[in-house]
Amino acid sequence: MRTLPALGAAALAVSLAIHAAPAAAQDAGSLNLICSVQDEWCTLLSTTFSKTSGIKVNMVKRGSGEALAQLIAERANPKLDVWFGGTGDPHLQAAELDLTVEYKSPSLPQLHGWAQAQAEQAGWRTVGVYSGPLGFGYNTELLAKRKLTAPKCWKDLLDASLKGEIQVANPNSSGTAYTMVATLVQLMGEDKAFEYMKGLHRNVSQYTRSGTGPIKAVARGETTVSISFVHDAPGEQMQGFPIATATPCEGTGAEIGSMSIVKGSRNLANAKKFYEWALTPGAQQFAAAAKSFQLPSNKTTALDSRIPDFKKIKFIAYDYAKYGKTAERKRLIERWERDVNSMPR
Ligand code: G6P
Repeated sequence: MRTLPALGAAALAVSLAIHAAPAAAQDAGSLNLICSVQDEWCTLLSTTFSKTSGIKVNMVKRGSGEALAQLIAERANPKLDVWFGGTGDPHLQAAELDLTVEYKSPSLPQLHGWAQAQAEQAGWRTVGVYSGPLGFGYNTELLAKRKLTAPKCWKDLLDASLKGEIQVANPNSSGTAYTMVATLVQLMGEDKAFEYMKGLHRNVSQYTRSGTGPIKAVARGETTVSISFVHDAPGEQMQGFPIATATPCEGTGAEIGSMSIVKGSRNLANAKKFYEWALTPGAQQFAAAAKSFQLPSNKTTALDSRIPDFKKIKFIAYDYAKYGKTAERKRLIERWERDVNSMPR
């Protein structure tokens, strides 16, 4: 009997907490987030930020190219506040198109040079939140079964034995795929790069919407090889899939995953709160916690051992400013449609 009042008090406390939570969230307002990294990371970021700040987060997940298209479509009536993640080129394009706002974070000096350079070349309308190298993923069991050799170089992907065995994303929707197009153009020169992509087309079974579609297909044995960011592989390996990666012997590009505040944001104070939080080492550790292994932009973020070792990779000197320009991205994607995607296989 004596325990009843205590139970009653506990039940009341729980009920108060339940009823107080939405009120607190309402008081702190809301945040409309568009997120272009993997689902698990997007969800962990939004739920943790929401819990710790009391701000209600409405999150939508879109590929980098699709997120940019949404910002353009909503230009006259913006509904979003922050765009988190996705490759840097469309963020630079959003800056050029005046779709995002200038914001100089006090945390900038804590970030790696590449993340600060990304901010500077956008007139402080974006900032680098992570970086990661482009390469190949392959299914080790399928390779062995089909007696194929693991690809090490871009040229290996043209081998006739890989006909119908490769998946890569479509550069219209995916920043990963646009990074591939821009990387090849910088590595080979434009005409040779398009000749290369025409040859590659014969071996590609499918151009997916999302940049991570191909590596997930490799992991699940639906295709043998993918062109992917190599930091997307450890998450699949952790689930027990037989997958390995390589970075091309000729050289490769790296993305500078970025974050921007949308122009016309109706929750600007909350947008800045999220932005500042996302640049802290504490928040950046949620990437690895959600099985995403990009290199974080804050120099003091603890590094997971599964993050690719940049010192072992041959990188091209990627011209982020040039390939993040609207005219250049549009021109290269149109040429890809015309010269590559429209060809029969
Ligand atoms: C994955 C990667 C990110 C990358 C993003 C681009 O989530 O882990 O590093 O920025 O893909 O996605 P997209 O669909 O635009 O290629």
